Amino acid sequence: MNITHLECAACGLRHEAQRLHNLCRECGKPLLVRYDLQQAGRTLTKESLNGRRADLWRYREVLPVEGDGNIVSLGEGWTPLFNTGRLGRKVGLRQLYIKDESQNPTQSFKARGMATAVSMAKELGVKKLAVPSAGNAAGALAAYAARAELECFIFMPKDTPRANIVECEQTGAHVTLLDGLITDCGAEVARRKDAEGWFDVSTLKEPYRVEGKKTLGYELAEQFDWRLPDVIIYPTGGGTGLIGMWKAFDEMEQLGWIGPERPRMVTVQASGCAPIVRAFEEGKRFADEFPDAATVASGLRVPRAIGDFLILDALRESGGTAVAVTDAELIAAVAEIGALEGVFCAPEGAACLPALRKLIAEGIVQPEERVVLFNTGAGVKYLESFP
Ligand SMILES: Cc1ncc(COP(=O)(O)O)c(C=O)c1O
Ligand SMILES: [Zn+2]
Repeated sequence: MNITHLECAACGLRHEAQRLHNLCRECGKPLLVRYDLQQAGRTLTKESLNGRRADLWRYREVLPVEGDGNIVSLGEGWTPLFNTGRLGRKVGLRQLYIKDESQNPTQSFKARGMATAVSMAKELGVKKLAVPSAGNAAGALAAYAARAELECFIFMPKDTPRANIVECEQTGAHVTLLDGLITDCGAEVARRKDAEGWFDVSTLKEPYRVEGKKTLGYELAEQFDWRLPDVIIYPTGGGTGLIGMWKAFDEMEQLGWIGPERPRMVTVQASGCAPIVRAFEEGKRFADEFPDAATVASGLRVPRAIGDFLILDALRESGGTAVAVTDAELIAAVAEIGALEGVFCAPEGAACLPALRKLIAEGIVQPEERVVLFNTGAGVKYLESFP
């Protein structure tokens, strides 16, 4: 067990490990898990990874669960990183990759975060979990809660893609559909959780989903033989994936696995809901709530993110940027990537392609650079969105 403590990402206040926490007790911002990386590095070495299990638990020493028996797994992580062929040639890049997160359990990258969050909930004795979700986080939570023998309560907007609703019902969750956005669902969980005895596993309102998501960063480094790419393009809602990768890069530097260089991190949002893009352009550290949020890329329909400052800090520190694309652009990109590369992307993942084209057109991405697009989910969950 290498965790030393939890640390507030805003004010730095220490919180005790192995206790249930949501947000910082002083300032109400997210908590991050801190490890004794010197100790972790005694057994976790690059060489030691050869032959380890082909899921995210291969990075066991930098994951939060103490007892192996508390690990709740469905085979999450260690997804393929494809070098593209025709797509790269078409946009003029020799080294364009797709990290295909649709190959996770429940078909999205949300499985990573829920695997670690549910494992920790089990370890810390939680019995009932609740989450507001745009869809994929709900499906993942339902599956892991079932496997952990925990009860789970899910709140989603009523116009969430039907596949997400059905998968939750079929994996035993209590599903409530609300006439509103994910922020309204979050408010409902917050209002009821104490009376109901629910532990709130909202994005960044508990410290362990990020730990699962950070393995995206470890995997990228390992799959690229410890040379990180030049640019990472990532569809951002609540931002846990981006925040997690950024955390992983720091940890790997402390482990001595990489140097101080970092990829430029690029956030992609839909133009109908682009609070981070707006805040980035306006030079703000915190994002205003985006009014009348609307996009078919349901995972990007997040008008306000509690980790906004962590996303914006990572974009700026890395020399990256934030790009908005229209629904028409991101839906067209699903068919384009599908036909050229055989990956049926979620609309959120496909949004990376029109964003990349804008960056190339503006000279921000150069032809010789190594670029990774994140396909965070599966197109098959969004059948309503396609012609
Ligand atoms: C397919 C997909 N991509 C991206 C996102 C956004 O992820 P994050 O909240 O980690 O920024 C979501 C969130 O629901 C999603 O379902
Ligand atoms: Zn704090």
